[in-house]
This record gives sequence, structure tokens and C-alpha cells, in this order.
Amino acid sequence: MAKTDSEKAKAARRVRELRKTIREADRAYYEKDSPLMTDGEYDSMFAELRELEEKHPQLRAASSPTMQVGGKRAARFEPLQHPTPMRSLQNVFSEEEAREFFARVHKTSGEKIAFTAELKLDGVALNLLYKNGELQSAATRGDGETGENVTANAKTIANLPQRIKNAPPFLEVRGEVVMTFADFAALNLRQKNEGGKLFANPRNAAAGSLRQLNAGITARRPLQFYAHGIGSESVAQWKSHRECLRWLQQAGFSIAENMITTADEDALLAHHRREEESRAELPFSVDGVVYKADSFAAQAALGYVSRAPRFAVAHKFSAETAATKIIAIDLQVGRSGVLTPVARLSPIKVGGAVVTNATLHNPRHVKDGIPDESGAPCDVRPDDFVEVYRAGDVIPRVGKIFARRREANSRPWIPPSACPSCGGQTAQDETFLYCKNEQCEARLRARIEHFVGRNAMDIEHVGGVMLEKLFAAKFVRAPSDLYRLTKENLLSLDLIAERAAQNILDSLNKSRRTTLPRFLFALGIRAVGEAAAADLAAFFGSLDSLRRAPPEVLTMVRDVGPGTVGAICDFFAKEENAEEVAKLQDGGVQWEEFNFAPASRTMPLSDFLLRMQGVKTALPENLIHCIGDDFPLRGLGKTGAQKLSDAFGDWRSLEKANAMQIAEVLGGRGGIHVAERVRDFVGDSHYAKARNFLEEIGFRWGDAPPSDLPLAGKTFVLTGTL
Ligand code: IVH
Repeated sequence: MAKTDSEKAKAARRVRELRKTIREADRAYYEKDSPLMTDGEYDSMFAELRELEEKHPQLRAASSPTMQVGGKRAARFEPLQHPTPMRSLQNVFSEEEAREFFARVHKTSGEKIAFTAELKLDGVALNLLYKNGELQSAATRGDGETGENVTANAKTIANLPQRIKNAPPFLEVRGEVVMTFADFAALNLRQKNEGGKLFANPRNAAAGSLRQLNAGITARRPLQFYAHGIGSESVAQWKSHRECLRWLQQAGFSIAENMITTADEDALLAHHRREEESRAELPFSVDGVVYKADSFAAQAALGYVSRAPRFAVAHKFSAETAATKIIAIDLQVGRSGVLTPVARLSPIKVGGAVVTNATLHNPRHVKDGIPDESGAPCDVRPDDFVEVYRAGDVIPRVGKIFARRREANSRPWIPPSACPSCGGQTAQDETFLYCKNEQCEARLRARIEHFVGRNAMDIEHVGGVMLEKLFAAKFVRAPSDLYRLTKENLLSLDLIAERAAQNILDSLNKSRRTTLPRFLFALGIRAVGEAAAADLAAFFGSLDSLRRAPPEVLTMVRDVGPGTVGAICDFFAKEENAEEVAKLQDGGVQWEEFNFAPASRTMPLSDFLLRMQGVKTALPENLIHCIGDDFPLRGLGKTGAQKLSDAFGDWRSLEKANAMQIAEVLGGRGGIHVAERVRDFVGDSHYAKARNFLEEIGFRWGDAPPSDLPLAGKTFVLTGTL
């Protein structure tokens, strides 16, 4: 009895083991495209599992691999042997290791030779066999000797040539099947809507799409093929890798851009650095740069060591995500008093740079803006282990919280009620936290830092440390103070030499002549970024027009939403801001105002009507009261607005028309009700103010040529010396 029991226990253990291994093998095979075992090994494990389950019925389970797909192992592709084995590359992870590789090659070949440096695409390797220029077969890498025959699937890839001209009789073309980030996102969205399987990343999506047993499905997936070399050693047509890639390209293959060829190691490493920095700008995923000895003769002489070539190496990029610990959550004071939570991190290398801070955006984001391991929204706490990521050159962010690793005594972060810089009271709305003290030191400093920035007034030599000194000496509290600095002031500061002082004065002087968009941006109005500043300048043409603009008119500027309208009105409503602008002008800051060509200032009546119809949704809440309770043009659609525009064209003509005449133009049911509203609108003083203002700043009513629509926002002609 005891013996049977232990036999049963043994069988149960073995069944668990087999199921686990088979599942892992399936995942590796189907999702990662990297088989863990040979087909024979897999088959024998599968058979053993089935046998055990038959012998011990109590061990059967619906979730067992034997119960899926009718108990048969999933169908697979035909094996196909590669004429020339597909090798893999050795990886190096640092510049030192890369230099060691170059040194090894130079030593072996006895001379300094040229290398190519090209992108390592993160996709699925494919070997294409062409006979007399006709595509014969396509196979995945498999174990390097034998892959899967995916010819029918590969033939559906749009940029993969099925016939090539002037090809040698026998040619193996090698490359990578990839999917762009955009196509990957769209595919996953579609999969989600249709209840299909989601892919973890573009590589898995490419592999899953290529390895469909039904090639019709592959055909609907947006795959691309990029060639990076040839496989056959029998081809002596080209002297170098570079020459060969050129040939492939003119034969119709896509080749990853940006390859360089040089014997200069520093240049090769610099290329790697550049590519790593700009990897986020590429449409598809890359995971390194491949260096290859360019000359085929050199490649042949260097040969292979086990499965990898001696003449090539992959210099990998550092991971774009990394796990680290949050040391503290601090608040950063912004130029308009916004307090932004920032995670101070235990330093970690991410995407090629050491990261010590990550923005947490706002208290709401801290509360539930980031997922935990299971994907559920979670709060961020000091001492949490988190995953940080960097996309391109944007500031690092926290992408995931390892909530399960939290200590028992961990507590949620609570936004402080006092500003960490000045100790003043904070205020909080739905999303943001603010310091209410207008004189908060950190806030003043942030404002000046913004003012001198490269995209604002571009004042060189007045950054970081210098600003600290100017602040400490109380020479500068507002941007306008900069323009009153004297050489004596500067020389009185610690360790400032005559030359440095002069440099500062020179760059201040240079910055005095600026442009309206730069100046508007430099003012640091909340929510007015560079783009909004440029749009506002182009619409109003002068600072004075912008300052006097009624809120309804501000809503007409492209991309200016309620928050921005509110911020602009708040800014100019404050006496001290007007004073600061005057002081800046006194200090010599000047810009060219815009001179608009009359044709560019034509506004179709329909544009105005439609904009004003929606104005209530385009204004911030605190400004809505000033335009009455109702949507005055309720019921007037696009067609109606166009009809009125066509019939009356000019505002004055519309003003003279009575409700009956307007109703006639509008036609249709309900015309008279809408017409009465239009009459009310025409007589409403708020809207009259808005349209008078538009006329005052040079707009004329009428149909503009399509490219001149004022709301298109890009047609303003500048004159002067801008
Ligand atoms: S050359 C003899 N160049 O990386 C080595 N490979 O680990 C031939 N890969 O399976 C490879 N981009 O599919 C080469 N520009 C590139 C590549 C590249 C991606 C893949 C390739 C190979 C793996 C090597």
C-alpha cells in the first residue's frame, strides 16, 4: 500500500514537471521564436505525459497540454535546412568591450581595417533563398541549422522582393522581419477589440504574425523585411559588406538607414552613442549596433568561433527600463507655483544614461496613475521598488510599481500642506498642487530660469550657479532685474572675473532684441508653451492686442483651450505682471510686431459664428458667467453657419437683416427659432465686443482662400526684420 502511494506521488510530481516544461517549451516556441528543445525531445515528453495521465486518471486535468487542441501537439511548420548555417552574434555591453573586439580583430588581421556600424533590428531573423532571382523559400532561424519553412507567409510581406534582377544563380538574403511601434499599437488595439491575444512587444507581434499557419492572417499583418546581409559563401560578386548591402538595396530590399563605414574606432563608438540617444525616434525597435569587418576577404580570414563570427559583434544598447528604489518623493516648485512631485531614485542606468529623478507629474498621478505588477492602478510611496523608463530624451518616468515588495510599514504619500521651499500654504485642485505665495523664492527662481532658457530669451552664461549667486546677492528677483545688472554688481559676486562679467552683459544685451513668440513664452504664463506662444503671436500680432483680447477671442486661437484662456486672463489681470512687462521694455527688451497682409486677415463669418456657438465649452469656468447663461446660437449647425456666411458675407449685412430674412436663408424646419437666436446673438454686447475687437486688430469679414483661413493659423505674413 505504502509503495503504491509513493508511486502515485512520484507520478504526480513527474506530471507536474512535464506539464511545466511543455508549457515553457510552447511559450518559447510560439511566443519567443526560440525553441528550448528539438522536436524529438518535445514529442517524447508529450508521449510520456499522456501515458502517465492514462495510467493515473486522478491526475488528469483540463488544463493539461494533452487536453488542448484535441490532445495533439499543435501543428508546426515544416523544417527546412539552411544552405549556409545562420550564426548568431556575440554581444558586448560597454565601450571597453567593443574596443577589445576591435583590438582582437586588428591583431588577428595584422592591420587596421574598416568596420561597418549598422543598427541591430529587434525582430525575427529570416533566411531567403533565391534561385536565378526567384524567391524559392523563406525560413526562420530555428536552431541555426534548420528553421521553419514560412515561405507562404513571407511572400505576403509587401516590401520583400519575390523576384530580383541580375542576381547570382544562388543567393541567400538574410534580414529581420519587424513591425513598427505604430503598427504594433494598432494591431494590439484591434486584437483587444476583437478579444484576441495581446502581444507583449513589436518583436513578439512580428514573430506571432509571421508564424501563422494560415498565411492569410500573416497577409493582414503589417510586417516589413529589412535585409542585413547574405548567407551564401559561394557568392564572390561583392568585395565588401557595404558594397553587398548597396546591391541589395538597388535590387529592391529595404535596408536600415544610417550605416557608416570607417576604421576610426572613436567614430564607431560615437555612432553607437548617437544611435542609442536617438533610438526612440526610430519607427521600430532596435537593441544595438552591429560592427562588422567590411571587407569580405577580411571576414573570410577571420572566420568563425563555434556559432559566432569573429569578424562581427553586437554592441547592445542599455535597457530602456530598469528597476530601482524610490528614496524619497520631493516637490519641485515650478515657475507658476505648481508643485510637481518628483521621485528621487537610487541611481540606475536606463537607456544609456544614469537616472536619479523621475517625474511623478502631479498628486493625482501619485495616487493612482501607475500600474502595479498585475496592471492595476496603484499609488507610489517612498521606499517603493519601481520600474523606470526613458523614451528618447524625455524625462524619465516611473512605469510600474512592485507593490508586492512593499514593507508592511509602508504608508501612502500625502501632499504636504506647506511649500517645501518657502513654507507657505499650498492649495490643491483636482489634479495639481500649488504654492500660494507669489514671492516664494523657488518659484521666482524657476521663473527666471525659464526666462533665460534657450527657447525663451536665450541668455547665455546666466544659468544654474550664476543664478544662485545673483539670487543670493539679492540682485535679481524678477526677470527685469537682469537688465539692470551693472558690471559692478557682477564683479562684486564671488569669483566672477572681468571677462565673465562682460560675457553676461553681452549676452543680456544680445537678448534684448527678441521676437514676440519668444517673449510671450519667456513670460512664463501658465499653460503657454512654445507652440501656444507662437500661435498667440501670429493671431494677435502684438503684445498689446493680446493683453486686451476678450476671452471669447482668445478661444479662437488654435490649440488654446480653456486652461490657457484662463491663465492668460489671470496673468494680464495682475497689476504686477503689467508692471514687469513695462520694466522689461524699459530695460531695453524689444521685438518686431507683426504686420499682417490684409488678405491673411480675412475671417469667414461662418468661422466666427461656429466658434462663438461653442464658446462656452472653450472658456474656463470662472469666465463663463460673463457671456450669459445660454448657448446663444444653439441649433445653428455647420450648414446653417455656411448659409449665413454665403448669404450675408459681411457682419454688417447680417446685422441689418431681420429674423424673417435670416430664417429664409436658413430654410427648413425650426428656421425661425434659430433665426431669432441669431438676431439675439447679433445684438448681444459681449459678442459685439469680440467682433469689434477682431476688426480692430485687422480682421475683415469674408471668404478667405482655403489656405488663408485665419483659424488654420499658419498664414500670417510677417514683415520687418524678424
Ligand atoms: S548580422 C553572422 N546584422 O541579430 C551574423 N544581424 O544575434 C549575422 N540582427 O540572428 C548577423 N540586426 O537576425 C546582423 N544588422 C544586423 C542585424 C542582425 C539584427 C539579428 C540577426 C541575428 C541576430 C544575431
